[in-house]
Amino acid sequence: MKVTVVGSGYVGLVTGTCFADMGNDVWCVDVDQNKIENLKKGIIPIYEPGLEEMVKRNQQEGRLKFTTSLKEAIADSLFVFIAVGTPPGEDGSADLQYVLAVAEDIGKYMEKYIIVVNKSTVPVGTADRVREVIRAQLEKRGKSDIEFDVVSNPEFLKEGSAIEDFLRADRVIIGTDNVRTAELMKELYDPFQRKGDKILVMDIRSAELTKYAANAMLATRISFMNEMSALCEACGADIEKVREGIGSDSRIGRSFLYAGVGYGGSCFPKDIRAIIQIQKEYGLSPKILPAVEEINKQQRMRFVEKVVRVLGDDLRGYVFAVWGLAFKPQTDDMREAPSIDIIRALREKGARFQAYDPVAIQTAKAVLGDDGIEYFLSYYDALAKADALLLLTEWHQFRKPDFERMKNLMKRPLIFDGRNQYNPKKMREIGFEYYCVGRP
Ligand SMILES: NC(=O)c1ccc[n+]([C@@H]2O[C@H](COP(=O)([O-])OP(=O)(O)OC[C@H]3O[C@@H](n4cnc5c(N)ncnc54)[C@H](O)[C@@H]3O)[C@@H](O)[C@H]2O)c1
Repeated sequence: MKVTVVGSGYVGLVTGTCFADMGNDVWCVDVDQNKIENLKKGIIPIYEPGLEEMVKRNQQEGRLKFTTSLKEAIADSLFVFIAVGTPPGEDGSADLQYVLAVAEDIGKYMEKYIIVVNKSTVPVGTADRVREVIRAQLEKRGKSDIEFDVVSNPEFLKEGSAIEDFLRADRVIIGTDNVRTAELMKELYDPFQRKGDKILVMDIRSAELTKYAANAMLATRISFMNEMSALCEACGADIEKVREGIGSDSRIGRSFLYAGVGYGGSCFPKDIRAIIQIQKEYGLSPKILPAVEEINKQQRMRFVEKVVRVLGDDLRGYVFAVWGLAFKPQTDDMREAPSIDIIRALREKGARFQAYDPVAIQTAKAVLGDDGIEYFLSYYDALAKADALLLLTEWHQFRKPDFERMKNLMKRPLIFDGRNQYNPKKMREIGFEYYCVGRP
């Protein structure tokens, strides 16, 4: 089938590449000329395991093409996916300017029936707005007779395992008011359904809200565990034991129950703010989600306070090694990473940093700059003469480091672990001062 994906970021590029991999003819479109030129040369703008090889293969086999011209791309496409960013506006609501700009361009250039698919995370009612914008453009051109449908198809992939998530999604949600469109969407997704049908067809508004509700639920679990971690610290319980204890309950399950320095990334923070705003717009008074957001902010600062309790408020002269900058492992995405708030707060108190991340150094530099931070290509080098280590992203290689070597490199064997990677008792036995989250 012929597919155009507009927006070649984390979601758009993975979506387009996975559709091409199933034999479809795909155009990936972006306004970023540089990004498109690089993609044409096989240079991938993001770190996502397995993506580079898959892009190159599909490109070489002629199924995946890149362009900045939406007009060129949609000329023979049946599906046009919108996968552009929906960043938070000033009041926290999703800023739809990019989505609506694409809708306007679609209306300007389409010459035949297409199915416009909203893959960006968008508030309830966005499909109607996209439809209005396209219709207005068609009317302007005197081409109101060209038919089109608008579908909601929210994306649930996770950065770091995006390809696997797309190829073997838990579910594919198709929000539509039209049986014919549902059938065509099912046909497009059919190759991903070999192990059983995971497609859920529903009305457009429910599909739009499902995405926000899913992220809100997951973020709530994280904040719940972080609130419990504070209680554990106060009453002498161990959050890791509590996690095992509740996670083994089949009604609760084990996922998203990790206490730490809070959630970050390009989705949870902005989507929580956006759904709160949607609730308010409908005259409701959100209670749970403002608390989820508040706990998340506090959790980062509780980590900073822990450092201050041990080392004092004046951190001039202190050097911290930092292991992990990205908001989670297996990605270079720094959007709303806890490391940003933590490093900034400690930097204000005079601290300096020797930071390491396997893939996010470039993206981190763009956010945090060089002021007071030196970036290292080896995580052991980052420890040299450090007063303490801050472990902020749980990359696999940090799980079993050479602790003796660490002790020899550091000025003081002091670890603040924001991801509960080590056993506190064992750390004490081998001579570390070890502070983690919600554990005695
Ligand atoms: N990143 C994730 O893990 C994830 C997961 C699920 C859903 N989402 C949602 O998917 C959407 C996209 O997220 P992302 O992380 O891929 O964003 P991104 O910032 O990585 O990519 C967006 C791309 O769109 C391009 N763009 C902007 N305006 C354009 C236009 N008019 N025409 C063509 N291209 C344009 C940008 O240049 C950029 O390359 C968001 O709504 C996000 O909430 C993201």
